[in-house]
Amino acid sequence: MMSERDRKMALTVAWDQAAIGYDTYFVPRFEPWLRDACARLAVPLPPGGLVIPCCGTGPELVSLHQLHPEREILGVDLSSGMLQLAYQRTRHLPLIRTQTGDATDTDGWPPCAGVLSLFGLQQMQDPPLALRRWVEALVPGGLLSVMFWPSEVEDEGPFSWFRQAIARRLSLPVPTWEAALPEQIEAAGAELLLDAAVAHPMEHESALSFFEAMLTSGPGRSLVLAHGDAWIDELRSDFVAHAPAGPLAHRPRARHLVARRGALYFRINGPFGRCISVAVVDVAVAGAAVVVLGA
Ligand SMILES: C[S@@+](CC[C@H](N)C(=O)[O-])C[C@H]1O[C@@H](n2cnc3c(N)ncnc32)[C@H](O)[C@@H]1O
Repeated sequence: MMSERDRKMALTVAWDQAAIGYDTYFVPRFEPWLRDACARLAVPLPPGGLVIPCCGTGPELVSLHQLHPEREILGVDLSSGMLQLAYQRTRHLPLIRTQTGDATDTDGWPPCAGVLSLFGLQQMQDPPLALRRWVEALVPGGLLSVMFWPSEVEDEGPFSWFRQAIARRLSLPVPTWEAALPEQIEAAGAELLLDAAVAHPMEHESALSFFEAMLTSGPGRSLVLAHGDAWIDELRSDFVAHAPAGPLAHRPRARHLVARRGALYFRINGPFGRCISVAVVDVAVAGAAVVVLGA
C-alpha cells in the first residue's frame, strides 16, 4: 500500500499535469456550483480573512474578491501547477495570495471570517478531519461553504459510468466518511445551516471527449500515472461500450454544506448520560441565540 507521503506526491504530480486542461474544460462547466457556493458568503461577515482550501486554478479567488473586495484572501492547494494559473488569474489583485500546501494543515491560516471550498474535500486523505479543521479556523460568527462531489453524483451519466468502469477493475473504498461530515461540523462548534444536493446541467461533445478530459485534465490523471497506458486502454474501451454515442447532457449532483461557527461553544451533559453540544450564535447581530447542535 502507498504511504501517505507518496499518495500526496502522486496527487500533486497528477494535478500539476492536469492544470491547463482542467482550467479549460472543467472550470467553465463547474461555474454554476461556484455561484451557489459563493452566494452563501454574500452576507456581512465578522472581521477576519477569507481562505479557500483546494483553490486549484483560482476561480473562487476572483469570485470571492468580487463579494468582499476589502478582505485579504488566501488560496491553498497542493499543486503548484494549479496555483501558477491561480496566480495568473489574480496577480492584479494585491489582497489575494496563494500558498502551496496540504489544506488539512490550517496552522498558518489567518483567523477566518469565511472558508470556501469547491471540489477539493473528496480529494483529501481524511475529509472529516479536514472539514473539522476548516470549521475550527473560523472566528465566531464565521461562515463555511463547502461544495464537493460525493461518491454517487448521478444515477445515469458519464461520472457514474466512469466510476463503474473503475469499480470493475479496482475495489473502491466504501465512502463512510460522507455520513460523518455533519457531526464533524457540530463537534467543531458550528451550526449546520445547509446540507443539500445541488444539481446543474453539464454537456460534453461525446462520451469519449468526457473520458479524455477526465484522464488528461481531471481527477483521472492519477489513474494514468498509477496504472499505465494498457490499463487505461481497457478502461476506455469498457467506458465507451457502456456509454451512448453522440453528445451528452446530464445533471450531476454535488453536495453543499454551509455552517456558521457559534460565538460561544460548549458541551454539557444531557439526560441519560448523553453529551449535548451547544453553540451561542449571532450575539452581535441578533442578541444571543442558543442552538443545541446535537447529542
Ligand atoms: C477538482 S480540483 C478543484 C479546484 C478548484 N477548487 C475548482 O473548483 O476549480 C481539486 C483540487 O484539490 C487540490 N487538492 C487535493 N488534495 C489536496 C490537499 N490535501 N491539500 C490541498 N489541495 C489539495 C488539487 O491539487 C486540485 O487543485
